[in-house]
Amino acid sequence: MAKQQFQSVRGTHDILPDEQPRFKQVTATFAALAEEAGYRKIDTPVLEDAGLFVRSVGGDTDIVEKEMYSFKDRSDNQLTLRPEPTAGVARAYIEHGMSSLPKPVKLYITGEMFRYDRPQAGRQRQFNQVGVEVFGEAAPSIDAQVIILAYRYLRSLTMSGVTVQINSIGDEVCRPKYKKALVDYLKSRIDDLCPDCKRRLESNPLRVLDCKEPGCAKVVEGAPQIVDFLCKPCHAHFTGVLEYLDEFDVPYELNHLLVRGLDYYTRTVFEVYGAREGAQSALGGGGRYDGLIQELGGQATPAVGFGLGVERIIIELDFAKAPLPNKQPVKVFVASLGEPARLAGFKLLEQLLDGRVGAVGAIDKDGIAAQLGRADKLGAPYAIIIGQKEVFDKTVILRDMASGAQEMIPLNKIVEELQKRFAGA
Ligand code: HAM
Repeated sequence: MAKQQFQSVRGTHDILPDEQPRFKQVTATFAALAEEAGYRKIDTPVLEDAGLFVRSVGGDTDIVEKEMYSFKDRSDNQLTLRPEPTAGVARAYIEHGMSSLPKPVKLYITGEMFRYDRPQAGRQRQFNQVGVEVFGEAAPSIDAQVIILAYRYLRSLTMSGVTVQINSIGDEVCRPKYKKALVDYLKSRIDDLCPDCKRRLESNPLRVLDCKEPGCAKVVEGAPQIVDFLCKPCHAHFTGVLEYLDEFDVPYELNHLLVRGLDYYTRTVFEVYGAREGAQSALGGGGRYDGLIQELGGQATPAVGFGLGVERIIIELDFAKAPLPNKQPVKVFVASLGEPARLAGFKLLEQLLDGRVGAVGAIDKDGIAAQLGRADKLGAPYAIIIGQKEVFDKTVILRDMASGAQEMIPLNKIVEELQKRFAGA
């Protein structure tokens, strides 16, 4: 009977060797730009206590209600595969006493997230994010700095047409007043709302604002707007953020319906969109979360950050045929011909690798044409050919794969010669 063949779990993907250069470009460029701006990397575990997300993301959000991979381990701990990074980073900030570090504490992350979402293009059950979290600074300039970092990053990947949507959702002083006005209005139109929104009306009325159901969208058109309810400090903060963004010509749009799907936000919220037509979903999003550290048992600490979806960025870059960095780590292919050259070829290959000259070799019985064909496929700029005569003369033939030009080089000089040619490459 044929053995069962396994496939990757629905909504998860292998990142194959051919796809790695793009993946690396997207993650490494982010790491480089973040580090240049003074962010330091943090990795937190993929597994966290389920309660962490209930408390931070919010019990009646889609993420917690419908999308978490949660399970009991063998010791009866209720665990969750992280659906997002901010809660874990905030936990780590408190757990490791990072509040004693000089402020602001600027951290960046890259890594896998898990959401039981409906799989489709740009929506996976395991996906990657890159992002930053800044702790301990309340000034609007920091909000603008993180937004500009997201923008600079996408631009440096050669993405064009990036736009930012931005809103302020106030704080614990003004948001309750807005919520009340919103609920009063929505109640007057309750028959036109979808069942989900009827339910959310009490638990999480702001989410009605970004409901995609046409009936709800129509109701929302006439809803009161949060900007009209912002208290003085929130209003000043928001205009401050916009003023800084104007300084840098970030193309932003005010979107008073933008509320985001996570409960920890206060004041600034934003989403970043690419230019691709038909792309419904954001490349990334973020905002301020001044209450989260305290909510998780730490000292009150203002914070702001964002997360960008790596797979969505890749779709956008592939669609625009954005250039890939052309790094070829294999510099030379060692072709050995015939039995006498076998050991010499084997030894030279390892000597090249010892000398950090990227090399691949054929220690098998292929003829010269087949071996040079393999060198070509690999994209190696050079091939070294060793035959019986070369073993005898203690030389090798160095072949420039592009021009076909060949030169004779002493065997004991070849590693050094190639190191010289690739110095700085
Ligand atoms: P989020 O908007 O839930 O925010 O996710 C950020 C980004 O992750 C999304 O814009 C999207 O690009 C990507 N993403 C989300 N779900 C999926 C999925 N199922 N498949 C593929 N990509 C996805 C957060 O996670 C917040 N923690 C961001 C943040 C950091 N706010 C403050 N600090």
